[in-house]
This record gives sequence, structure tokens and C-alpha cells, in this order.
Amino acid sequence: MIAKISGNSKVSGEILVSGAKNAALPILTAALLSSKKVELSRIPELADVQEMISMMRYAGVQVSFKENEVSLIVSNLKGDISDFSSKIRASILFLGPLALRTGRSKVPYPGGCSIGKRPIDIHLNGLKKLGFEVSTEKDFVEAVLTRQFKEVNVHLDFPSVGATEHLMTTASMMKGTEVTLSNCAKEPEIVDLQNFLNAMGAHIVGAGTSKIHVKGVSHFRPVHYEIIGDRIEAGTYAILAMASGGDLIVKGITPSTLNFVDDLREMGGNIAIFGNSMRIKSSDLNPFEVNTAPYPGFPTDLQPQITVLACKAKGISKITENIFESRFGHVPELKKMGANVSIVGQTLEVTGPQSLHGTKLIGKDLRETAAITIAAAIADGSSEIENFEILFRGYERVVEKLNRVGVKIVVS
Ligand code: EPZ
Repeated sequence: MIAKISGNSKVSGEILVSGAKNAALPILTAALLSSKKVELSRIPELADVQEMISMMRYAGVQVSFKENEVSLIVSNLKGDISDFSSKIRASILFLGPLALRTGRSKVPYPGGCSIGKRPIDIHLNGLKKLGFEVSTEKDFVEAVLTRQFKEVNVHLDFPSVGATEHLMTTASMMKGTEVTLSNCAKEPEIVDLQNFLNAMGAHIVGAGTSKIHVKGVSHFRPVHYEIIGDRIEAGTYAILAMASGGDLIVKGITPSTLNFVDDLREMGGNIAIFGNSMRIKSSDLNPFEVNTAPYPGFPTDLQPQITVLACKAKGISKITENIFESRFGHVPELKKMGANVSIVGQTLEVTGPQSLHGTKLIGKDLRETAAITIAAAIADGSSEIENFEILFRGYERVVEKLNRVGVKIVVS
């Protein structure tokens, strides 16, 4: 799919953020644990969510999904879904829950992607500590619960978001076992997952801190749960507003999850938060130094996007990516537009202000495509972005939302 973007946009108006992709995916896998009805609201209609739901259906779950509402009930689950060719990394989250529900699970080995190797050692080592035997072949991973302990302590080598979610979810359904996870990730989506599991009858405390305590239960009750708003979507549109010198209201946010707003203010963003909305106006942009880090540090998922802001700032900005080893796919594309960016190890050095000109661009991964879309929206002259459909993985109704706030974009 090719997007034609006409450039020189000055965004204004309102955008309503959707439910958080990175809350929806772990919560959908956690629903596998229950044999009662699970209803979820504000589930975004995204390619990654559709893929997750296809995997659930393949495993035997009856799922209906329309107008952001999911209703599911687990009937005859099958543990071996290894020949479901999954493109999404979150498929690994099925491993523990499916093994508990069916006795043995076999899921596709989640590949790396353009931002890094993305190993799963922390997931697998944690499952072993919980009493699972885990084996990996080229294309798949297998798990069986062979021992049960009364108490288990698992220390994560790195505060991995997915591993924290995977181990917390799996432990929640291990009746008779109390699990303490330490060095956990603290992202808001993990708190949302804990709240969902507890609403189903789990006993979890500590999500959002580095130590989570889980007391396993054997059954869950029916639940209807609404997930939180997507903070990365909100941040992406805020950065678009700042880069275009616009005046935008972003609605549907959960203010306590927007830890990056202070960073955006230091960059020159004039951001007011009121209720579940924020209004972003920007004045002159200041050069900045940012290090991505696990929550509450600056989110790696906004790193490509603020690289565009740095192009507009008066001076030299430094952006260091500490989470993924190769999350710089946006740099060659921005350089094609005239950006003055150099990569020094894991740090981008960006000199501005530098006007950007429209050209032919290539989308490679989700947040890189978001970044070059922002760049194309503010560039002098029009651009074409190839593989634009990548954005549909993480930004619901993105063409409609961009057009509505003044970005002239046509896809074909
Ligand atoms: C989640 O990915 C998010 N995805 C990512 O968002 C996000 O960038 C990332 O967390 C970090 O915040 C979802 O929630 C679906 P990690 P995840 O495990 O869980 C290493 C987006 O654009 N690691 O916290 O896969 C890993 O290689 C996506 O929405 C191990 O070494 O991230 C990476 O360097 C991109 N071994 C670092 O930890 C493991 O077993 C962080 O990975 C697991 C991870």
C-alpha cells in the first residue's frame, strides 16, 4: 500500500485515542485461562489484534470481535498451535497459559524483527523456575508443567515487559503456588493486565512496581473489562502536533500513564492536561538529550518519532536507544528528506533546525513508519510512503484520524 502525503501540514482539531495495543494483546492471551465468558471493551481494530484473535480461534476459542468489543469463551482448547504461522511476537504469551489449560503447549517460535533479535530467554527461564519443562526447536517452543512448588521466586535478568506479563499471567492460574517476581517491568499495560486478571478472580499485587506477588487460583469468574487508552498512540499524535506547530486535542488518555509529557514540554511542547484529554501547542523546539529506558523512563516506542522533532529543534539533540539494538530504521529515510542525523553507537546526533523535503519513503517497522509519516506530514512538498499498511498494526483508523486533523493523505 502506498500513502501519498502532501506535506506542510499544520494539525488542528481533536483525536480520540483507541484502546492500547500493548494492553489488548496480553489481556487477550490471559483470557485463555478462563472457562467462563470474557467480554472486553475498547479493543482496537488493529492487524496485530486481528492476528492474535485468529491464533485464539485456531486454538479453539470462540471469539466475536466487532466495533471494539470482544466476547469470548474457551471451549475445547488445543495446546499445539505450532503450525499457525504467527508474525507477532506476542504469540509467545500463549506458551504458559496454553500448557496449564491443555497439559502441553506448542507455539510458533517468535521471530526477531527489524528492531532487534528479541530473544525469549527471560520468558523460558521464568517458566522453568515455575516448574515447566521447556524445549525449543527451530520453529516452535514447547512447555509442560511437570513440578509444582509451594513458593517460587523468579528474578528477571532484565525488566522485560512481555516476560513480566507472561509469568504473571501463568502464575495466576497455578493454585497452591505463591510466586514472587522481581526486577519486573512497570509499564502501565502490566497494571492493566493485573487489573483484568484480578477482575477475573486472580490474586495479584504489585504490578507497576518491580516486585509482583501472585497467589495462584484454580478458577476464574465471568468478567467484562475495558482496557486503558494507548499512550504510545497519544504520544505519537502529540509529537505530530509539536512538529507541525499545530494545536491539537488528544482525548481518551489515561493521564497517569503519560510519563513522557514532561520530556515533550522540555522540548518545547506547550501541553495542558485536563480530565482524560491533553491539548498540545508548540512554540520553538529546543534541542534535547533523551535516553530510552524501561518505564517510567522515556519509551523506546516514541524514539523514532522524537527524532523528527529533533530535526526541527534549534541545536544539537542526542537520542540514545537503550532497549533495542537496531531501532534506527527511520534514520536513512529521514536523511533522504534532508535530515542531519548521525548514528554514534546507540546514540543519534541530530542537528537542527533542518527543513525536510518530501520524497519517496519506505516503511520498515511500526514506529519507524509512524516517524516518517510525521516527517512527511510536515515536509516541504509531497511524499510517498511504501508499505504504509504497517501502520495499521498499531494505529487504529490512522488515515481517517490524520485527515481529520489536517494531514492530507491518500492511500492506494
Ligand atoms: C513490549 O515488547 C512491547 N510490545 C514493545 O512495543 C515495546 O517496545 C517493548 O515492550 C519495550 O517497552 C508489546 O507489549 C506487545 P521486552 P517486548 O521483552 O515485551 C530483551 C511496539 O512498537 N529481552 O521488554 O517484546 C529484548 O531483546 C512494540 O508497540 C531479552 O533479552 O519487549 C529487548 O532488547 C515494539 N530476553 C528488551 O529485552 C527476553 O526473554 C526489551 O524487551 C525478553 C526480552
